[in-house]
Amino acid sequence: MSDLYREQILDHYQNPRNYGTLDHPDRSFEDSNPLCGDRIRIDLKIADDRIVDIRFSGRGCAISQASASILTELVKGKSLDEVRELGAQDLLDELGVPISPARRKCALLSLKVLKAAAYGLNEWPS
Ligand code: FES
Repeated sequence: MSDLYREQILDHYQNPRNYGTLDHPDRSFEDSNPLCGDRIRIDLKIADDRIVDIRFSGRGCAISQASASILTELVKGKSLDEVRELGAQDLLDELGVPISPARRKCALLSLKVLKAAAYGLNEWPS
């Protein structure tokens, strides 16, 4: 793992972007990683089929929390169609660090929750 990406993960873990909750979210979903019980909640404000605001909250390992933080920055302002196209590899690429199979669910928990909040699809992203 390069130092640059290690630093990015640590920075997002220690200073999460878009952390918290929205007062009156249009959509909201919370789920956990069944392997460890760590949870993430995502609140969305949607206007004209676009994510105009997003917050996440929860607790979990550095990878899951950093991944959620990076994901919120990635999708803020994007259309729901663009978010629908977002796959597991897109988020893994943004993380920039090799993710072992054992940590894959950590890295993808936020994407699973986002898709469930946006569309009610409650399955692990592929
Ligand atoms: Fe729980 Fe990573 S160990 S989400």
